[in-house]
Amino acid sequence: MSFDVAAFRAGFPSLASGIAHFDGPGGTQTPQVVGDAIARTLTGPLSQRGSALVSQRNAEDAVAGFRSAMADLVGGKPGGVVHGRSATALTYDFSRTLAKEWSAGDEVVVSELDHDANVRPWIQAAQRAGVTVRLLRLDPASAELDLSDLDEVVNERTRLVALTAASNLLGTRPPVATVARRAHEVGALVFVDAVHHAAHGAPDLVAMGADLLVCSPYKFFGPHCGALVADPGLLETLRPDKLVPSSDAVPERFELGTLPYEVLAGVTAAVDVIASLAPAPGSRRDRLVAAAAVVAEHEHRLRRRVEDGLAALGDRLTVHSRAAERTSTLFLTLRDRSPVDASAFLAARDVLVPAGTFYAHETFRALGLPVDSGLRIGLAAYNDDAEVDRLLEGLADFLAAPAA
Ligand SMILES: Cc1ncc(COP(=O)(O)O)c(C=O)c1O
Repeated sequence: MSFDVAAFRAGFPSLASGIAHFDGPGGTQTPQVVGDAIARTLTGPLSQRGSALVSQRNAEDAVAGFRSAMADLVGGKPGGVVHGRSATALTYDFSRTLAKEWSAGDEVVVSELDHDANVRPWIQAAQRAGVTVRLLRLDPASAELDLSDLDEVVNERTRLVALTAASNLLGTRPPVATVARRAHEVGALVFVDAVHHAAHGAPDLVAMGADLLVCSPYKFFGPHCGALVADPGLLETLRPDKLVPSSDAVPERFELGTLPYEVLAGVTAAVDVIASLAPAPGSRRDRLVAAAAVVAEHEHRLRRRVEDGLAALGDRLTVHSRAAERTSTLFLTLRDRSPVDASAFLAARDVLVPAGTFYAHETFRALGLPVDSGLRIGLAAYNDDAEVDRLLEGLADFLAAPAA
């Protein structure tokens, strides 16, 4: 099935300005229909959840719609979908809840491929509980996770493995299912950060072996919030801190205070936008999986064009994204030019390519790179060939121009 990028782009008001957005891994642009869903819900009759009044039913519908959409996006169950302010906030909340069951002698495992949001909460919870932290290492040469010591790092003492489904810096997609298999062999839980992955395809909670999975709708055309998906049966066993009169049901038990109903409606609209990219028969989950394949083909074709263009610029830059399985996100360093200057040069041409560390703190350390030494080119479904041409021309001109 072919992908009509022009038709897709037409749905995004911010793209009409002519700005080329290669900053999607930081947050994608938002389609009009998502903004409309948020405005419609917020300005319609709305109060608190309930069934007696229309204003209550609208709130109830927004919650039900959100849970069903997020469950479809990741292959989970609506009853296992928890809303949070962000993936970071959800990971902190769950790290505190899970750590209540840890004791000295236990171990948790984090990885050098992860955003700090899936590293620091676990390290800090482990420190409080007197639990040892083990590390899955990154091989800088291949940009892959080094799993040669997996059976030793994940062992009988392991209580939890926290691993990304895709690196937001390098794009690397590690073999989560392999790691999860080992974790489950020793009775450990697997907490998957699918924030970057979900922007480039419908994650499969079950196939990955994720016990708990987080993602952030603002990375896939939705509003700014986070969602956690887990088996409702697992959530039943967890006891978060909560108010006495608030619901003890799952998943409400994990959601503190009033939910942002308009934001939830926006998430549902964003998932529907993705599903609409593959108008195939079947369930919304089927359409989301089909859409992921269509979008991946588009993004990877653009990625190859960018890679070829960067290769033509010779040894003035190094592309660090080189794993066999990866998203369309490229991280590169420049030989003797500042990435911050490069980003500013491109921005002056309305080409947005951010410089920074992108909170991939451990990954930077593992790569041996100084802070803020690189540029991240993120290709999203709405990017097109003309934008890639502008990006490559801009980079070539920057490298040809004398340093300021
Ligand atoms: C891979 C990854 N994990 C986690 C996060 C944190 O997400 P949030 O902003 O929802 O806390 C990000 C944000 O950039 C990310 O890219």
